[in-house]
Amino acid sequence: MTQPTVSAEVAAMMADLAVSARRTPDAYLASARTTLLRLLARPELLDPSRLTAHGEGLSRNLLFGTEALSVWAMVWAPGAITPVHDHHCSCCFGLLRGTLRETWYRAISDTHAVATRDAVRTPGFVACMMPSGPNLHRIANDGPEAAVSIHVYGYDHRVQASSIHRTYAVAAG
Ligand SMILES: [Fe+2]
Repeated sequence: MTQPTVSAEVAAMMADLAVSARRTPDAYLASARTTLLRLLARPELLDPSRLTAHGEGLSRNLLFGTEALSVWAMVWAPGAITPVHDHHCSCCFGLLRGTLRETWYRAISDTHAVATRDAVRTPGFVACMMPSGPNLHRIANDGPEAAVSIHVYGYDHRVQASSIHRTYAVAAG
């Protein structure tokens, strides 16, 4: 996996956020939201030429990682879609470019879920969730252009492969 070099300013923002990961969940989520909003307000802070973008699917670019959190730039080719999933850790994301459809689900068992709502996310949107609250969703790029989002997860990328706790099959609502 290539690791894009981020600017000193972005690295400092993320280091501050990593410190706040030791605070209460609500305080951490507020810091993560603020950090993401600051990043989204200044897209020039991330050089798109440093991001890996495969021709299809989802390309993950690690921007920053500690034992407390990992920050990724995700490039979504048109048609890219995640499984329906929940998370074992905090999950915050913001949309930098393009549009993404986020569909929320309600689990009806450990293996199946029904869709409850659906929204198209646009640049500047930020969501933050904890595994203790609603956090079961699917994200898809069903638009014609590539999309770029920034994700802040509360896991150590050297220890765990992803933020996903379980994936679910969709049941009829
Ligand atoms: Fe997710």
